[in-house]
Amino acid sequence: NDDQFKKVLSHAKEYGYVFQSSEIYDGLSAVYDYAQNGVELKKNIRDYWWKAMVQMNDNIVGIDASIFMHPTTWKASGHVDAFNDPLIDNKDSKKRYRADVLIEDYCAKIETKIEKEVKKAAKRFGDAFNKEEFISTNGRVLGYQEKINTILSRMAKSLENEDLADVKALIEELEIADPLSGSKNWTDVKQFNLMFGTKLGASAESAMDLYLRPETAQGIFVNFLNVQKTGRMKIPFGIAQTGKAFRNEIVARQFIFRMREFEQMEMQFFIKPGTQAKWYEHWKDARMKWHLSLGLGEDNYRFHDHEKLAHYADAASDIEFKFPFGFKELEGIHSRTDFDLKAHEEHSGKKLQYFDHETNTNYTPYVLETSIGLDRMFLAVFSNALIEEELENNTTRTVLKLPTVLAPTKAAILPLVKKDGLPEVAKQILEDLKWDFNVVYDEKDAVGRRYRRQDANGTPFCITVDHDTLEDNSVTIRHRDTMEQKRVKIEELSSIIKKEVDV
Ligand code: GAP
Repeated sequence: NDDQFKKVLSHAKEYGYVFQSSEIYDGLSAVYDYAQNGVELKKNIRDYWWKAMVQMNDNIVGIDASIFMHPTTWKASGHVDAFNDPLIDNKDSKKRYRADVLIEDYCAKIETKIEKEVKKAAKRFGDAFNKEEFISTNGRVLGYQEKINTILSRMAKSLENEDLADVKALIEELEIADPLSGSKNWTDVKQFNLMFGTKLGASAESAMDLYLRPETAQGIFVNFLNVQKTGRMKIPFGIAQTGKAFRNEIVARQFIFRMREFEQMEMQFFIKPGTQAKWYEHWKDARMKWHLSLGLGEDNYRFHDHEKLAHYADAASDIEFKFPFGFKELEGIHSRTDFDLKAHEEHSGKKLQYFDHETNTNYTPYVLETSIGLDRMFLAVFSNALIEEELENNTTRTVLKLPTVLAPTKAAILPLVKKDGLPEVAKQILEDLKWDFNVVYDEKDAVGRRYRRQDANGTPFCITVDHDTLEDNSVTIRHRDTMEQKRVKIEELSSIIKKEVDV
């Protein structure tokens, strides 16, 4: 909900996770900077992905291709001709919208109505409430759902047929009022290419038009044969990559959910034609397991199988996550057939084929892709972790319950007081632990306030050095989520933390 989302935004700034880009100049829309804690969380998510995809799979290797690519790449990939968003302007407010998003937002409003009905019924029926049964037998809820389906499928059909007049008619029919003026004074819907252009070369005559890549995938396709040959890879095998991508997004809102400069984590899995259905299921399952391993809650994920397919795909599904503003796409799993490799063969005049030693034949492999936005994953993890907790003594605490493996700082070392040799012992613990973990030292304020600060920062452990430590070499270790405190030996600290970091 809106309130939770506002809290996420202000917490991200206040605790050094995400800043607006060029804030002193009033920012740049849909562009953000990762701050001192954010950069660590982002790195940990990237590492967690890389470990699962590359390190744990013998047949997947990584590359790091450039952001700039030969411009013909984007002709071959279809981005020059087909990477468009349908846009519509409101003449009164002079605001520009993505037509499909306006329609989807309208459907989301209807979905909120369904949720309200479900909540009301749950209250009424108490323990006897069965959500699935209620939905399948409640006429009004079914009516709402049918309406959503009709609207979305009509929009999808019109977009597919490039019937932009019908998209406009749909917007007008739905009476989607401009949120500012309440007006319905719309222009025609137009297609707008999302790629950012730039130039390579010094002189105006010789300069070459380039694009900033809108996806990392193409860097993998054009390197397919280089990697296959030099790595002596046998099909099926995968190539993974993380890196920046750029899109001139028009719906510039929802914080780091939709950015103009963002990072993708993609893996292209090269397979034998005809085996794509099996691998599609395999990667849907594997990617969902990866998400669930982080413990953000099973109910927060769902698959959304696409009816309308991108120009390159024969099957596609999104893993959607329940963000504060509702279920939205987090990751895509796409069966891309041989579309990309064939297109690059055609445009480059070079063969991009695999020689199968077992059958002594050449073929163009099919591709199964998994593609997740790192920033979106960051938002999923961060918004899910931020909790206001009621405590037994009727106070509340703000706590960022990040999975330990992802938390920017694993432990804070706190001397109980700033004297009697306690800081020296605490600093020695810091020196020892920092070889293995990100740890911080904090001696400012009463220890209770320091605990709260670390809770809000997402630090899983607080280690307190007190006067007894000087006698027995033991410290108090406090766990962020349970607030439980335990007395342990200093030499046990490393293995206690390690146990929770290794998942
Ligand atoms: N290679 C396939 C591809 O790029 P996509 O569905 O356009 O597919 C994949 O993008 C993922 O990248 C999305 O699921 C989303 O997580 C992320 N993504 C796409 N556009 C984004 C944006 N403007 N800001 C942040 N993340 C974005």
